[in-house]
Order: sequence, then C-alpha cells, then structure tokens
Amino acid sequence: MSFPLHRPRRLRRTEKLRNLVRENRLHPAGFVYPMFVCPGTKVHEEISSMPGIYHQSVDQIVEECREVESLGISGVILFGLPETKDARGTSSLGKDGVVQRAVEAIKKAKLDVLVITDVCLCEYTDHGHCGVVENGEIVNDATLEILSEQALSHARAGADLVAPSDMMDGRVGALRAKLDENKFQNVAIMAYSAKYCSGFYGPFREAAHSAPLVGDRRSYQMDPANSNESLREVAMDIEEGADIVMVKPALAYLDVIRRVRDNCDLPVAAYNVSGEYSMVKAAAAKKWIDEKRIVLEILTGIQRAGAGIVLTYHAKDAARWLKN
Ligand code: PBG
Repeated sequence: MSFPLHRPRRLRRTEKLRNLVRENRLHPAGFVYPMFVCPGTKVHEEISSMPGIYHQSVDQIVEECREVESLGISGVILFGLPETKDARGTSSLGKDGVVQRAVEAIKKAKLDVLVITDVCLCEYTDHGHCGVVENGEIVNDATLEILSEQALSHARAGADLVAPSDMMDGRVGALRAKLDENKFQNVAIMAYSAKYCSGFYGPFREAAHSAPLVGDRRSYQMDPANSNESLREVAMDIEEGADIVMVKPALAYLDVIRRVRDNCDLPVAAYNVSGEYSMVKAAAAKKWIDEKRIVLEILTGIQRAGAGIVLTYHAKDAARWLKN
C-alpha cells in the first residue's frame, strides 16, 4: 500500500473539482443591503467613515433599490435620519417619517426587493439611546409601546419585515401583538436577538447620527464576553414570535452564529456591521489587501459559521463579483 492513502489534495487539483466539492456557495439571494434615508430630494452624500455608502433622500433610495433588485439581492434594510429629534423619538412614528416615505416609494415603484425596516429609537432621540430615559435609566416597558407604534407605522407604509434592534426585553412579543391586532399578521419580524455592545458600530453611529450623548449601551446590549446568554435571548425571541433571529456583529461573533445555528431551527441572519466594513475599505484604499478576495472570504466565513442571511454593506459589490 502506498502512503498516504488519503490525499485531500486530489480534490483540490482543478477549479472543476474544487467547485464540485465546495460546501458553501455565496448567492446574492442571501444578502440584505443596509441603506440610510434622509430628508430632502436629490440628496446623495457619502458617509465619510463608510466609503461607498450614502445618506440619500427617498428619490435616490428608490433608484439604488432598482440596482439592488437587478443584482438579485433579496432585500434592503432602512435606517432613518429624521428632520427632528426629541426625548421619545416621536419623529419615528409618523406616516410622513423618512423611513415610512421611503418604504412607500419603494413599494410604489413595484420593485422586487424585500423592504425591511430597522425598529429602534436611537436615530430619533435627542439623547441617542435606544429607549426612553428616566432618571438616567433606559426604561424598558415604556419603550415597548413606542417601538410597537413605530413597527406598526412601518407595516402601514408597506414594510415586509420589521427588525427591532433596540434590545429592550419583550419587544418582539410587543411588536407581534401590535402587528396582529392591526391585521398585519403577514409582516415578519427579524429580531436582532444576540446584539452585542460593540465598538464595531462606530462608523454607523456617525452614519446614523445616533451616538448616545451620555453613557453607553451596556445596560441593554449584550456583553461581548457572553455566549450562553445569546441562546437565552434567541429562545426568548422565538417564544415571543420572531421569524428570523440575528447575531450582530458578525466577525468577532462567528462562534455565536454557529451556536445559534445549532440550537434553533429558524433562519439565522448575521449583521456584517459598519466597523467590519470600514476596516476592509480603509485597508483596501491603502492597497494593503485585495478587497474582492477579502470581502468574499469574509462573507463565506459568516455563511460557513451558520448564517443563511447576511446583512452587509458589501452586498452590491459582492453580488457583482459573484456574477463574474
Ligand atoms: C440601532 C442600530 C445600530 C446598528 C444597527 N441598528 C447601532 C447601535 O446599536 O449602536 C449598527 C449597524 C452597523 O454598525 O452597521 N440600534
């Protein structure tokens, strides 16, 4: 018998062979593209900390959604930059809010893209927290009512899915009840279930003007050192009616994605967040890395960890690269 009998290299010899035995394939159908809606018309301003990503008015959002559709990307997730902010995030609720108008416009254009809305208060509150603040505390239950109203207004505008990212306890149940009471039983909930308190959101906070003025988000977002807790959060969200569960960020939490995948039978999403994106863009601009290669490797890694859905600012580039 010749040695070695097993030669794993046999299946790595040619691209045909490698393709035959490949365990994970990226496809734009698994991507969701995040977008930032602002007031005005014809606004298209690059976010300095996130090259290639823009603040855009509703008309421009619709145009980019056409491109997203043509690339075969399944959906977009919308974040709003409102005209005004107050203590309770009131500008997130109106029919004429930026996100509501964008949803309506995308639907009116009859584009074949799923419209997902981020449900949270931090972009709409003057203090920048994801919930209502009383005596220096982010109060949970008072926040739920506002979040449910916000989700309902997104559903009324035509959202296909709502995605609560606030990390208040009980928000998935509150949203589900509110949506059902108002006959929006077909609007699905993609819950940011295991959302960690992360430094990787840095560029997003500049993009969404949502950095907290005082304090941080440690009292509601998860401690990066915890893993078991993610299963508890996921289990609660499923019990409360979540349709899709999410882990966020992705790259420093690939183990969490894997555990969640192995412990539940719902679709699992992962958010390849702003800091993860901006690091790649910065290194690529310096020509320190091969952007295409690294982005596809990162997205493959997130999928291999167990996420069938990836929210990523790289979605359009990746979809183009996958075509060629
Ligand atoms: C809002 C929200 C955040 C992100 C998504 N929804 C920021 C935060 O929690 O501070 C982060 C997205 C990103 O970094 O790309 N709560």
